[in-house]
Amino acid sequence: MIPPYLAGRDREQSILSRRLDKLANGAPPGTHLILYGPRGNGKTVLLEWSLRQARERRIDVVDIGLGEAAADDSQFRGSPILTRWMRALGGASLIGAGIRWRELPPSRTAAVIERRARKQPLLVAVDEAHTLTVKMGRALLSAGQRMQRSGIPAMLLLAGTPDLPRHLNSMHVSFWDRSKRLPIGRLEPVAAGDAIRIPLEDGGRSVAVDALAEAVRESHGYPFFLQLWGELLWDGCPEPSIAISCSDIDRLRPQFRRERNLFYADRYDELDRADLLPVAEGVATEFADTERLTRQQLKRVVRSSLEGEGIASDPRSVTNAIGRLRDLGYVWLVGQESVAYFEPGIPSLMTYVEQNRG
Ligand SMILES: Nc1ncnc2c1ncn2[C@@H]1O[C@H](COP(=O)(O)OP(=O)(O)OP(=O)(O)O)[C@@H](O)[C@H]1O
Ligand SMILES: [Mg+2]
Repeated sequence: MIPPYLAGRDREQSILSRRLDKLANGAPPGTHLILYGPRGNGKTVLLEWSLRQARERRIDVVDIGLGEAAADDSQFRGSPILTRWMRALGGASLIGAGIRWRELPPSRTAAVIERRARKQPLLVAVDEAHTLTVKMGRALLSAGQRMQRSGIPAMLLLAGTPDLPRHLNSMHVSFWDRSKRLPIGRLEPVAAGDAIRIPLEDGGRSVAVDALAEAVRESHGYPFFLQLWGELLWDGCPEPSIAISCSDIDRLRPQFRRERNLFYADRYDELDRADLLPVAEGVATEFADTERLTRQQLKRVVRSSLEGEGIASDPRSVTNAIGRLRDLGYVWLVGQESVAYFEPGIPSLMTYVEQNRG
């Protein structure tokens, strides 16, 4: 669901809008688009926003979420439901019949999408695209490229976790080269404040400057947590005539932290399953004193954490471990400046890891 106020994504929204304008005018948009970033940063929200913008411009849309539920995928194989679904995919409407994207026949699906794009400008949105199977990914990306070459007004918009770039690159190098990548990171403090404040104000509430700053600080500009604070404050401070104050933040903080820690428990398990906890802890300790690390600094930390655990720390293991930490969004590469650097995906997750390893 699109949040009541979509904060701090002006740049991304203007890039998306420009491409959708081109599409609406029957022109190919130039490149396809890839949104990638750690969980909870707002990729799906931007995808949904784009779909709404596309519909407003009368652009045809195919909207596929890979995680969509089907009770048992295998039961649909070769069934009449699949036939119906393929028909829907080729037509003006797409009725989800409970089929997962990975259950569709790749080349037929790509052909149907191409046919559809020849009739009307088309936006194909694929969420959770890091789980695309190689077959489906290749079929889809090749179709995207053929349409681009033939000047057909169609655009692929793919969203997924930080390993999406690597995943797509491994499937189709030239598609990757000709796509625009938009990293979706955390929000800057002002935008983070807006994400909490504006929906409250729109609903007739007000929030004191210091209280807002505290909620923003606690959220680290992480959209999922900002949304959580917004909801807690809305439900927990129902009296419109009284401005939300720091004592409200203090009162609601335990509830916020409980929910946050539930989320962190999942992230912790992910790190554990990937055998990354010792390295994650070493990185957390380093980030306790600094907000950013260069590539070299991160390598040094990872190497010494691996050595500390008696694990081989050859250059390959170090690079591998860093790659997996990036894929999970534990660290996030920020690259706009001449020297790229890493920052924590979410700073307070680092503290959580340290505490739980202790
Ligand atoms: N720019 C934003 N302004 C305000 N709230 C936002 C913004 N972006 C995301 N949110 C809120 O943050 C939460 C997470 O967003 P979303 O589900 O889009 O993240 P995601 O990157 O798709 O995560 P995942 O990888 O887990 O699918 C949602 O509740 C959403 O409403
Ligand atoms: Mg999502």
